[in-house]
Formats: sequence, structure tokens, C-alpha cells
Amino acid sequence: MVILGIETTCDETAAALVERSEDGSGRIMSNVVLSQVSEHAAFGGVVPEIAARAHVEALDRIIAKAMAEAQYTFAALDGVAAAAGPGLIGGLIVGLTTAKAVALSHGKPLLAVNHLEAHALTARLTDGTPFPYCLFLASGGHTQILGVRGVGDYLRLGGTVDDAIGEAFDKTAKLLGLGYPGGPLVEKEAQSGDAKRFALPRPMSGRRDADFSLSGLKTALRLEAEKISPLSHQDVADLCASFQQAVVDVVIDRLRLGMRMFRDQVGTPTALVCAGGVAANQAIRKVLHRVAFEVGTSLVAPPPALCTDNGAMIAWAGAERLALGLTDPLDFAPRPRWPLDQVAKAAAASAQS
Ligand code: KG4
Ligand code: ZN
Repeated sequence: MVILGIETTCDETAAALVERSEDGSGRIMSNVVLSQVSEHAAFGGVVPEIAARAHVEALDRIIAKAMAEAQYTFAALDGVAAAAGPGLIGGLIVGLTTAKAVALSHGKPLLAVNHLEAHALTARLTDGTPFPYCLFLASGGHTQILGVRGVGDYLRLGGTVDDAIGEAFDKTAKLLGLGYPGGPLVEKEAQSGDAKRFALPRPMSGRRDADFSLSGLKTALRLEAEKISPLSHQDVADLCASFQQAVVDVVIDRLRLGMRMFRDQVGTPTALVCAGGVAANQAIRKVLHRVAFEVGTSLVAPPPALCTDNGAMIAWAGAERLALGLTDPLDFAPRPRWPLDQVAKAAAASAQS
């Protein structure tokens, strides 16, 4: 089966065609991503209204490009998938309405995909990873540790109670005047910095759940920066290194616990899978390998272009759902908030209707 996937939850306008074979393997036929980074850069973060307008202006063109690159027609599709949440409501309406229009006019099933589910299932497209596996998702909008037991069967083991990890990197960069997106810039500065110079907190470390909290770390960093302002180049590098080391320590602590919870509640994982832009960070990537190794499994890291937001992951999640007969009605409403453990309930409801 061949599915068109549309992604508009945040600041990427993306469309892709993905084929799923009967044996469960996948193939990307096209994958077009338009990043809005330059439109948000001046604001140091994503501005919802700007994002929604940019999606409206670009989506038709991006879909046409994905169709042309795959040399495919709407009539030949088996289904149309769009990310229906969680995300910014403006973008969700644009993407989901467009998918509904294509589905209705060509008589194809609609697949309203949970964006987090799409991240969670990507390793099956890229690496054919069997269930169950543990997912560490860390992006600008999300930070979660998930038990992935099957399609529509997710166990949330931990998540952030405030900022996402990528968001914390972005806010750190903004505070230090480095630019946006902040992750790569903070990582680069950290390379020439002293990670021991500033004693920043390791929020939540040692706690018995696998949750994250990053806003206290951000505040502590701001206070340190204010104490020594104006900042020299070395000060900035040292602040970045100290911040990154604190995040790395928190990730190790939380993920070790998450893996232990996985063993207790799910069983032996086939892999630790990472997703989200933060996984590009080499220091964080190193500890993911380490934690996986400690529990006797290995790290599966899809290529960066498929770890960050893209249409192929939406198309693939749609294909996995369609293969199980899980389609959605055309009046499916976008869901700005949509925790993954509710995906199973939604799937059950749509199977009955
Ligand atoms: O998954 P993604 O491309 O987009 C969404 O957030 O949906 O992730 C982007 C986030 C940004 O917050 C960015 O600063 C962060 O990932 N990021 C990094 C690195 N590269 C990107 N954070 C830390 N280190 C990096 N090298
Ligand atoms: Zn994402």
C-alpha cells in the first residue's frame, strides 16, 4: 500500500509518500520538508500565527512536489494520513483539512495520525525494529520515554513536567545571544567550554519516576550568567558546557530509570530507539549508547532527517494503522493535546464506528 503523509504540527511543512509491503517492510518514495526556521529565527522560537500562515502558503506546493518526486497520482493512493495532533492548532487545521479534502475527493481512507506515534514507529520504517522497544523522544516540543508495545499500544514511562529538552537548549541559546535554533549552537560552544565551572542543578535526579524538569536548570543558568555579566566568549562557552553536562547527567539518570521501568512493566526491549532533533547532540547520543549497552540492548537511531519532523513518519504511521484497518472518519477534529496513551482508545473507537 502507498500512503501520502502530511506533517504540519509545528514549524515544518512536510509531505511524503511511503510504501508498505505485506511483509511489513517500508520504502520511502518521496520525502519533502520545508523548514520555517528562518521565519521564526528573529523571535528565538516558533510563533504559532506565523507558522499557521506559512503552512497555508506552502502545503499545496509541498504535496505536489512529493507526488511528483514519487511519480504517483492521488487516484492510485491507498490512504491519506495527516498529523492530527498534538501540536499548534493553526497548523493542525491546515494539514488535517487538506488531508480530508484529498481523501474525500479521491475516495480514499483518512488516517488521523498522532505525531508522537509517528515518531515512535519510525524505527520500524528505517530499521524494521520489532516490538517491544523503548523510545527516547527529545525535540523542541516533546520529551518522553515511552514503552512501544505495538501499533496503538504505548506506555508512557516518563516525560517533562515543564520545558522540552530542545526548548531548554533554545532558551539557553537565546539567553546567551547565540541564535536559533539553539541546540547545535550550544553544542558547538560547549566544545571549548569548561563543564565544571558552574555548579548547575540536576533536576529530578534520583526521583522514582522517569520524569524530567528543565525550567529550574534554565533559571539557575540565567542567575549564573547575570552574576558574571558582561559575558566574555569563554564565559559563554563555559556556561554552554556546564548546561549541556547537566542535561546529559539528567538524561542518564532518567533514562536508566526508564529502562528499569520498561523491564518491570513491559519486558526485555529489542532496542532503545531515539527520535527528535536533540538526538543529533553528540554528547547526548553517547549516553544513549551507554545506557542501551548497560541494559544489554543497542541504540537504534534513525537518520537525522527522519528523527526530526517529516512527512514520511506520518505516512508510515498511517500505513501501519491502515494495515490493521484503523481508519478515521472525515469529521475527526484536530487535537492540540493528545497524549499517546489515548491513541489506543481512539483506535478502539474508530474500529467500532
Ligand atoms: O525534532 P525537531 O527538529 O523539531 C521539533 O521540535 O519538533 O527538534 C528541534 C529541537 C530544537 O529545540 C533544537 O534546538 C534541538 O532540537 N536540537 C538540538 C541539537 N540539534 C537540534 N539540541 C541539542 N543539541 C543539538 N545538536
Ligand atoms: Zn516531532
